[in-house]
Amino acid sequence: MHTLPRSHQEKVSDASKALQIPFHRAFVGEEEVQAVSEVIRSGWLTMGPKTIEFEAQFARFVGVEHAVAVSSCTAGMHLALEAAGIGAGDEVLVPTTTFTATAEAVTYLGAKPVLVDVDARTLTMDPADAVRRITSRTRAIIPVHFAGHPCEMTPIREIAEKHGMRVIEDAAHSLPARYQGANIGTLSEFTAFSFYATKTLTTGEGGMITTNNAAYADRMQIMRLHGIGRDAWKRYSAAGSWYYEVLEAGFKYNMTDIQAALGLVQLAKCIPMREQRCQIAARYTSAFQTIEALALPTILADCEPSWHLYVLRLNNDRLTIGRDDFIAELGKRGVGTSVHFIPLHLHPYYQNAFGYRRGDFPVAEHEYERCLSLPIYPGMTSEEVNYVIGAVSAIIEGNLA
Ligand SMILES: Cc1ncc(COP(=O)(O)O)c(C=O)c1O
Repeated sequence: MHTLPRSHQEKVSDASKALQIPFHRAFVGEEEVQAVSEVIRSGWLTMGPKTIEFEAQFARFVGVEHAVAVSSCTAGMHLALEAAGIGAGDEVLVPTTTFTATAEAVTYLGAKPVLVDVDARTLTMDPADAVRRITSRTRAIIPVHFAGHPCEMTPIREIAEKHGMRVIEDAAHSLPARYQGANIGTLSEFTAFSFYATKTLTTGEGGMITTNNAAYADRMQIMRLHGIGRDAWKRYSAAGSWYYEVLEAGFKYNMTDIQAALGLVQLAKCIPMREQRCQIAARYTSAFQTIEALALPTILADCEPSWHLYVLRLNNDRLTIGRDDFIAELGKRGVGTSVHFIPLHLHPYYQNAFGYRRGDFPVAEHEYERCLSLPIYPGMTSEEVNYVIGAVSAIIEGNLA
């Protein structure tokens, strides 16, 4: 019978005062309200000067030549794959542990997402398994910086170079994060970020693609707005002209100035917001590290994660309770959780369309069955963090094998 250290027992008793802690709460305040109101009052609601300013500041923040603002990370990945020349019949490597958007964007172009198992330490794409899945049709690879922990980009880049593959990073979780001293967003030809409501920087919905390649930036700028020549957004402004030319059949993927105004305020506090998530992660890790029934997130050397998610894993041989009941117990105590991710190969679409089956990716499946994500966001109070620690510790104490 294992007993918890005294510090945990004290936290368990803290948990007797019931709180309601949602899995996520957006960290937005008066400054965001003010910035959005100013745009609304200006009379220019869609893409315009604020979006251009957001792109410039985002590029400066990441340290990259070009940033192209879009309506979502999914749209960004679509544009990046299109600019990279991916088309019908091509294969693109995607980790099975990700949100469907990563693989879905590949299908938009008639290409096939080829799923890859993950590294048990970080739940990012396993480079060795990626190599095993390469065929004569493989054209690109999409590493996902799962939970904000950078995927191991050195082996990924080596594989891509050796096999003539394009690299499009799915950085939906990883602003800001660093790999071997370099900011995520500077490492590959394309990196797509998400500003969805739960992300580390939010515009409600939105995304950004970064690149150091001017020709790709140009292509994506054209394709995000109906394939109309650059600066298409200006055609209704005093500075613009009514005349425009459609160069391609593009998409409607632009950001709006309302979103960009929100994004500019959020970008200015991106570092302090990450600092707060780091502090919460450190509190969780220090509270849970002696509990043998738990496996904690691994941070590889030379990686600085964004801490978008704190993914806890249960050592099932030490517990009489499974992950689903653990989540239900946390729910009863008012703690919101989530699961990242149900591997893609377990979903009906990927099974029906591509023939994947349970058992195809053993690491991803094993980790999925025992993982849950705890609340971690700026604005979480110390009391709330203690409460979550107390609730997790109490459930473990009551269900030790
Ligand atoms: C790993 C990953 N990639 C892509 C996306 C899609 O982002 P968006 O909603 O901005 O399209 C998400 C969203 O949750 C995600 O988690």
